[in-house]
Amino acid sequence: PAPGWAVDADVVVVGSGVAGLTAALRCEAAGLRTVVVTKARLDDGSTRWAQGGIAAALGEGDTPAQHLDDTLVAGAGLCDEEAVRILVTEGPDAVRRLIETGAHFDESTEGGLALTREGGHHRRRIAHAGGDATGAEISRALVEAVRARGLRTVENALVLDLLTDAEGRTAGVTLHVMGEGQHDGVGAVHAPAVVLATGGMGQVFSATTNPSVSTGDGVALALRAGAEVSDLEFVQFHPTVLFLGPGAEGQQPLVSEAVRGEGAHLVDADGVRFMEGQHELAELAPRDIVAKGILRRMLERDAEHMYLDARHFGADMWESRFPTILAACRTHGIDPVTEPIPVAPAAHYASGGVRTDAAGRTTVPGLYACGEVACTGVHGANRLASNSLLEGLVYAERIAADIAASHADGGLHTRVPAPLPHPAHPAHPLLPPESRLAIQRIMTEGAGVLRSADSLDRAAERLHDLHTEAREALRDHGKTSEPGVDTWEATNLMCVARVLVAAASRREETRGCHWREDHPDRDDTAWGRHVVVRLNPDRS
Ligand code: SIN
Repeated sequence: PAPGWAVDADVVVVGSGVAGLTAALRCEAAGLRTVVVTKARLDDGSTRWAQGGIAAALGEGDTPAQHLDDTLVAGAGLCDEEAVRILVTEGPDAVRRLIETGAHFDESTEGGLALTREGGHHRRRIAHAGGDATGAEISRALVEAVRARGLRTVENALVLDLLTDAEGRTAGVTLHVMGEGQHDGVGAVHAPAVVLATGGMGQVFSATTNPSVSTGDGVALALRAGAEVSDLEFVQFHPTVLFLGPGAEGQQPLVSEAVRGEGAHLVDADGVRFMEGQHELAELAPRDIVAKGILRRMLERDAEHMYLDARHFGADMWESRFPTILAACRTHGIDPVTEPIPVAPAAHYASGGVRTDAAGRTTVPGLYACGEVACTGVHGANRLASNSLLEGLVYAERIAADIAASHADGGLHTRVPAPLPHPAHPAHPLLPPESRLAIQRIMTEGAGVLRSADSLDRAAERLHDLHTEAREALRDHGKTSEPGVDTWEATNLMCVARVLVAAASRREETRGCHWREDHPDRDDTAWGRHVVVRLNPDRS
């Protein structure tokens, strides 16, 4: 649809998690006219749900070099070492600036930051807040700072597409806004710099720790705009998600790695600790290894889940250290103080995303990406626990610095957008909202924790059929009536699902969180490289 209203800015930030709000605050502080647009409310994204914390070399005796080593090991040979070096060296100061912005972290009895451990970390280096409510505190502090600075924000604004000028440089975004007064309906923010910070795509699977808004909108937009996307096959399945039954769908309660960091054990129905002997760190091995260990035991035992046993914490520790998880378990009839918690892996984090350089620049001039939507190279084939909030902070700050420098050099001019192609382009037909459930089931069956050529081919075929039906419906019925947010979300999920399946089929090896039943070994000769995708805008 043609934009009905337009706003001008120097930079538009799409998304309002740790990455988006940090980028916006730093851009505004640099004197840039900054607009934040976000699909739901300012605090509705994944950041708010983060439990364990934020990793940085802040503890006595810890160093960025040790953090670098742990990150590279978890990333299974595919991290960009320079991107990781930036993350771990700039990380500690970025956390201190977050504290200056207003976030309160838990303190130890000696008065410094209380630091915990999580999978893959050889040291205690995870700062946390409210026990297990780190993301909620970060979100609160950043939202308050954005409001206090009077930044322009538009909520309930689903980003549709990137606007570019005749030379293909960024000129802003189109948006579908619901219920926000003067900016209702389809409109545009014209700006020469766009920062995608739209978060992840966990909703492409049936069971995920991600909230319902995590539908891959930024990756889909970037693909439609011709940007490069990398590493989409590396979907991280969190090992310990509260098991609510075999058919559970949608957002599932997370049981943080920090629970294992404080000494909880993974056990089977007979109470046997099955991670011992599988890795020197046992329950605290990198996440992919623990998820595989759980799934293998589930297959061996024909069990629907395993258990996390932390009864030895006792009631006081549960109440003070993990109040959020305790409450979530009790809501579902499990009392972790007196019984082991049933857990199973569920989709958690997209290690890949829109490909960027060290300044957060994508391959489309003027388009930046940070946070989960981005692939900066720091996660490789498997993100190290609690590096994601840190990545959001560090790379958002780098993006703001880059945009401010371009602005100072006179390189940021408002551009005249080229006319938009019709949104119901044959390559990306709008899907009916009901397709969401079908896509999730197809992806869970064919492209979940354990994959094979057969399962991926079947998934590709079924997605293709759904897509073809939508294309035919479009041809038969022409333009649909005004599409709603759920229509766009289903369309975006289809777009990212198809690329994810194609990337996973291509990578014929097992590495990090990509586990191929038919190619069980890591193959550095053939596959020590990335799967990078760029869509031809004229073809599906
Ligand atoms: C958790 O608390 O286990 C999640 C941490 C993360 O995903 O980095």
